[in-house]
Amino acid sequence: MCSSFVDLVMRISVCIVLALALAGCGSAFQQVKRSAAPTQSTASPSKGEQVQQPAPDGVDRPTVKPYTGDLSIFEDPNREQKLHVNRVMDILSIKEGSNVADIGAGSGWFTVRAARRVGASGLVYAVEINPEYLEYIEKRAKRENLPNIRVALGTEDDPRLPDKSVDAVLLLKTYHEVAQPIRLLKRTRKSMRPGALLGIIDRNGKVDDHGIDADVVIKEAERAGFAIVGQYDFVKSDDVDYFLVFRAK
Ligand SMILES: C[S@@+](CC[C@H](N)C(=O)[O-])C[C@H]1O[C@@H](n2cnc3c(N)ncnc32)[C@H](O)[C@@H]1O
Repeated sequence: MCSSFVDLVMRISVCIVLALALAGCGSAFQQVKRSAAPTQSTASPSKGEQVQQPAPDGVDRPTVKPYTGDLSIFEDPNREQKLHVNRVMDILSIKEGSNVADIGAGSGWFTVRAARRVGASGLVYAVEINPEYLEYIEKRAKRENLPNIRVALGTEDDPRLPDKSVDAVLLLKTYHEVAQPIRLLKRTRKSMRPGALLGIIDRNGKVDDHGIDADVVIKEAERAGFAIVGQYDFVKSDDVDYFLVFRAK
């Protein structure tokens, strides 16, 4: 009787100790969760809500799946005049001997025009995330006798160009497709020589309609370390609205 009473007291004590230990673990776990939370979201003091913030190099807007269709749509015979491509190259200071990157080169429509202008002493990197398009551009470069074209397989956040290798970069109807625009632009900046220019030609829109507003592009480029130095609308036609020019800050 006496020993079973002692046994009972022992069992209750063990239970109490275990319960206290478990409660302690629980509060420690909650503390870890709370201290990790601010990197994901910010508490609004007025409503106590959690507001999602983009990751440091992220964007809080939709992005669209890159084009994978037929390349003939980029070869409209009137495109050269509609886009005033020679004026675009003049503004980007593309001349004989320049090194140029065409990021999102597609069929190489701009690549080949830039390659003719920079001549044998220059280079044009045709950057694509689509390896089939790069194969097409390689064949096109051979066919059009342009040995100064280099193809480069980029990723959604990196054009994978050598550091300080280019004098001018163009993203032609491509920016609205870029899944990681801030990272891509930051890495593009590393590939640019001092004074090099970055051009972005696109149409206004909400991304899912294959366009992106110019003011969004300007803000994102600024976040990636660029300053706008020119904004033109002479490129305006059915599928393009603006031509923005940036320099590294
Ligand atoms: C609408 S097409 C424009 C092609 C070309 N610039 C033209 O206007 O003739 C956009 C191209 O960008 C490419 N692209 C999308 N995201 C890219 C990225 N992060 N890096 C390189 N290319 C990309 C796509 O594969 C696609 O070929």
